[in-house]
Amino acid sequence: MRILAFESSCDETAVAVVEDGRRILSDQIASQIALHSRFGGVVPEIASRAHAEAIVPLTEKALACAGCTLDDIDAIAVTHTPGLLGALLVAVGFAKSLAYDTGKPLVGVNHVQAHIAACYLAHPELKPPFLALVISGGHTALYHVSDYTRFTLIGTTRDDAAGEAFDKVGRVLGVPYPGGKTLDEMATRGKCGTYTFPPPLVKDSPLDFSFSGLKTAVINRLHNDRQKGEPIDPDAVAADLTEAVVSAIKNRLENALKLYPESQLVLAGGVSANSHIRKGVGALCEQKNVRLFLPPLSLCGDNGAMVGAQGYFDFMAGKRDGITLNAFATGHSC
Ligand code: KG4
Ligand code: ZN
Repeated sequence: MRILAFESSCDETAVAVVEDGRRILSDQIASQIALHSRFGGVVPEIASRAHAEAIVPLTEKALACAGCTLDDIDAIAVTHTPGLLGALLVAVGFAKSLAYDTGKPLVGVNHVQAHIAACYLAHPELKPPFLALVISGGHTALYHVSDYTRFTLIGTTRDDAAGEAFDKVGRVLGVPYPGGKTLDEMATRGKCGTYTFPPPLVKDSPLDFSFSGLKTAVINRLHNDRQKGEPIDPDAVAADLTEAVVSAIKNRLENALKLYPESQLVLAGGVSANSHIRKGVGALCEQKNVRLFLPPLSLCGDNGAMVGAQGYFDFMAGKRDGITLNAFATGHSC
């Protein structure tokens, strides 16, 4: 069963061909980072225009690299929520017209659920049930996954996502956008304990996250030190920020494992590439005798293959969308 999958929810246009939800035949990504970096963040209108320019040649390339034509494709999958509305609409509109033209079935996929499905591509032995935490630039979602298409959202963020905190602190430190990866490297060099940042925990809500207070505390400290002419140690800032994020993630996951005692945990999304988070959550899982599944670094960020994987399982569960499929900026069907 071959799925042609599309992703345009943020700043990557991605098209993939995936077989049986587990095997990548082709995974093409056109990144827009160079377009947005001079603004220090994603500019939605620029993102939509770049998706519109990239999607046709990228589809041709994805099919060619998979050694396929449209005739070899059994169904079409597309991210339709959550994300930037104008950006989502590009792939949704394109996938709908392709499905209409070819008569192939169409499946709308939830982007956050697709991040989890990236692990099916790398780990053939992974099967639900499990707990899954998706941490990215725009999303924070803790799910109990009882089946391939059954997700119960048990925790989320009250405000910002972890990636937002890394990227905005990165911007104030003068690190190129998006700052997450560079801050990861800086935190490896930096010494913990120079700065004291508040742990980002939500009181009375053991599975929820909050990264906005932490982000603001770090940025305020940087501005204050600059105004007073105090020296700043950027590596130490990255180390203490990362330490606070890792401890919050471990704390919430420990609470979740108590309430939902599963023996498998999936960590996914762009921020799951963070080496310190991988190490910290790895240590927690070892201590709790839980098997940790991580996507390879190439599948942590946005990609089309993860949409093809989740699209396959949605399709097998009977999900079908037609010409009325719409894009939704916030977590429709989460
Ligand atoms: O999943 P993704 O590509 O897009 C969203 O769905 O939001 O995630 C992008 C985010 C950015 O905030 C980026 O800075 C962050 O993932 N990121 C990292 C690392 N690599 C990417 N954050 C921390 N450490 C990393 N190594
Ligand atoms: Zn994403």
